[in-house]
Amino acid sequence: MLRAAIVGTGHALPQRVLTNTDLEQMVDTSDEWITTRTGIKQRRIAAEDEYTSVFAVEAARRALEAASVQPQELDLVICATVCPDMTLPSTACLIQAKLKAKRAAAFDLVAACSGFVYALSVADQFIRTQQAKRILIIGAEVLSRYVDYTDRATCIIFGDGAGAAVIADRDDGSGVILSRIQSDGDYADFLYTPGGGTRYPTSYKSIDERLHYIKMRGNELFKVAVKNMCDITQRVLDESKLTAADIDLFIPHQANQRITDAVADRLGLPQDKVYANIDRIGNTSSASIPIALDECVHNGRVKKGDLIVLTSFGAGATWGSAVLRW
Ligand code: UT7
Repeated sequence: MLRAAIVGTGHALPQRVLTNTDLEQMVDTSDEWITTRTGIKQRRIAAEDEYTSVFAVEAARRALEAASVQPQELDLVICATVCPDMTLPSTACLIQAKLKAKRAAAFDLVAACSGFVYALSVADQFIRTQQAKRILIIGAEVLSRYVDYTDRATCIIFGDGAGAAVIADRDDGSGVILSRIQSDGDYADFLYTPGGGTRYPTSYKSIDERLHYIKMRGNELFKVAVKNMCDITQRVLDESKLTAADIDLFIPHQANQRITDAVADRLGLPQDKVYANIDRIGNTSSASIPIALDECVHNGRVKKGDLIVLTSFGAGATWGSAVLRW
């Protein structure tokens, strides 16, 4: 049976580090509050001349090299992002051009922090139906462009970066066993950026009203995130006839260390099976899982044959989970 296997990963981060101590100078917060409430110590922030596709292309080149796949061999490029380079065209097309992936179809996927798991699920469908053999999926964000650095509730969380994976068809037992994605638009106003779209186009008024910045009902989102990340992880395990004890490595979206801990605890997963890098990277939305996965490939946390579960939750609300054999 053909499966969508991750055959190469890569990630890219901005050089600039924004520490909790730096944030103490900007808003009424403390390193102690941020560390205990989120687990974050620092995050990376793009320079003025860096934008989403800059990191996406760097991450993609690394993933392609690791996979020994040439850009012109790609059938599809999916860029999961809520921070496109521009409104039009898609960032995926800009990435395709920079990579010279001439044969590929390219499109963006908007599922916020769940973007990478959504993209993996889409790639899985293309592979299973043999519509594609090699697919590049990327999660890339420069959220700092939308963060209000006077709002202490949001500016402490988010960071910038990109992660990428090359997906190829395999029939050796490796690859995605099962993926499931879900949404509930009733939670749309828990995390949103109202300005800049067709409802509140950019104007002096929209800027005066700060509509171009991210708004978040963090505490309410927290509870919905924990519940749905647990439920969907349990669902993919049940449908795959697996249990939490079968998992070798759980890589959740890095939203908040307390969310990760609560989800792991409810699923009965010991800490050594749960990956966390939020202390160094912050919450990079769709980039968080592929950045974490690439770190795991390089630091030896992932070994051939391992059972890996990726679970995400984000604005929309959107959530999803994928079980894969490495
Ligand atoms: O990426 C996927 C989507 N995002 C998420 O899943 C994020 C989910 N939410 C969270 O991570 C957490 O809700 C936050 C980290 C955003 C906030 O933590 P919390 O424990 O839920 O705090 P809270 O919003 O309930 O606020 C508690 C208190 C408030 O003060 P009062 O009203 O109790 O006096 C806030 O004003 O903490 C205050 N507060 C802060 N204090 C110091 C909020 N932000 C800060 C801050 N520094 N940065």
